[in-house]
Amino acid sequence: MKNETVLVLDFGGQYKELIASRVRQLSVYSEIKPGNLSADEIKKIAPIGLILTGGPKSVYGPDAPKCDPEIFSLGIPVLGICYGMQLMCYTLGGKVAPGNGGGEYGRIRTKLHTGHRLFEGLSENAMTLMSHGDVVKELPEGFTRLASTARCKNAACVCEGRGLYAVQFHPEVRHTDRGTEILRSFLYTICKAKGDYNIDDYLEAAASDIRKKVGDNRILLALSGGVDSSVCAALIEKAVPGKLTCVFVDHGLMRKNEGDKIEAVFGRRQLNFIRVNAADRFLRELKDVSEPEKKRKIIGREFVEVFKEEAEKLGNIPFLAQGTIYPDIVESGGGTTATIKSHHNVGGLPENIGFEGLIEPLRGLFKDEVRALGRKLNLPDELVNRQPFPGPGLAVRILGEVTPQKLEILREADSIVCEEIGKMKNPPSQYFAVLPGVRSVGVAGDERKYDDIIAVRAVITSDFMTAEYAPLTHSLLSRISSRISNEVTGAGRVVYDISGKPPATVEWE
Ligand code: XMP
Repeated sequence: MKNETVLVLDFGGQYKELIASRVRQLSVYSEIKPGNLSADEIKKIAPIGLILTGGPKSVYGPDAPKCDPEIFSLGIPVLGICYGMQLMCYTLGGKVAPGNGGGEYGRIRTKLHTGHRLFEGLSENAMTLMSHGDVVKELPEGFTRLASTARCKNAACVCEGRGLYAVQFHPEVRHTDRGTEILRSFLYTICKAKGDYNIDDYLEAAASDIRKKVGDNRILLALSGGVDSSVCAALIEKAVPGKLTCVFVDHGLMRKNEGDKIEAVFGRRQLNFIRVNAADRFLRELKDVSEPEKKRKIIGREFVEVFKEEAEKLGNIPFLAQGTIYPDIVESGGGTTATIKSHHNVGGLPENIGFEGLIEPLRGLFKDEVRALGRKLNLPDELVNRQPFPGPGLAVRILGEVTPQKLEILREADSIVCEEIGKMKNPPSQYFAVLPGVRSVGVAGDERKYDDIIAVRAVITSDFMTAEYAPLTHSLLSRISSRISNEVTGAGRVVYDISGKPPATVEWE
């Protein structure tokens, strides 16, 4: 049986994968296609709805991506988001121009016409995430306004007779109040979805893609022991049993006892598991390096080198697998997106690496989807619910140069933070210690001393694209502080990081 499908037509916006993922989370299968997909091709796919994404251009500019105008006459409901709204209105005869006094960026108070079924059950006064310079100045004929803000008269609109809906804001991000409800109404009330998609479908499709791509060949996987690479391993093992070799590179930047724990879990499984102890090598390369991007690049490069050496030792393994997930790709930049941080597991392979192909079966997924897949693949809960840990490890939690002494202090402090916060009934999404590399004055007994500051970071998020700091209780913070000061030699002061993302990121580097 073919699943009901919603096509996400891409006009260059950075949230396209997020839109597709939200739709799948609402149990409707969704796929991303180029924005200029012809109406004929769309008819062949027979989707139950179309969503037009945002994008960085101006619809009236010379290089603006366009859609086939016929898509608005197929009788398939369309939801235009941001650029998608402007494109819909412009194509159908409305007027789009720069907003008076500039655009709107950030959370904006928006008046919604909640009498309309797209906004049913929402508050009339909602905060929505806006990010646009242009506005729809005049709606096309047959359209009516559904929302407005102080600076954007037409913040949403509808042409009910033709099944066309549009919002200037981004319902797919958590910064829009109950944005998911808007997508749900579009899918279930307007497109009449039944909700016949679940993670089994993804699993089958991904396994079949892997089989097609690798044939009878072997695959080498970079296993970090984190959720992503572990789920990736289980998925590949299921798709092509016996063909997978997992290489766990212990770069010496792991948390306390982590390398041994990973070996204990994966050494027992039905996989070819190899642990490479490469701490000396990584620390040598990182000596005297304090620039964050340089540290990441060095670690990324060494990783590739180690894999290459292992692959050579193992003989002919043409494919390299990686547990890259969608937020890794967005945050690493690419095309016109700004580089915020280069995550070391992104960027493809250097040409001389010797692998014929790269397998990244989790590339379109978000963390919560990866966890759901892990449960389906019968991975232990302890592993599936593990909080994320960055590929470059503690190197991005030590600001400045990484030394064995700083690693030792951070490991001890981090294990206290993890132990104490881990006792909470509902722990935050990610929590850890950071060593800012700044020392401050303290007293111990009657002596004055200079010891390192430890920062505690704990955030709540579901997609890691945005995050809030966790409101830990004072008693918990006091316990952490007192334990670190008493138990960790070299740590003299503890601070709590109360920044959200944006503007801060989860990691400090
Ligand atoms: P940021 O710091 O970008 O973190 O807000 C978002 C999520 O990504 C993790 N992270 C990384 N993961 N390589 C990784 O594999 C990296 O270089 C990296 N930097 C951040 C971070 O722990 C958080 O879960």
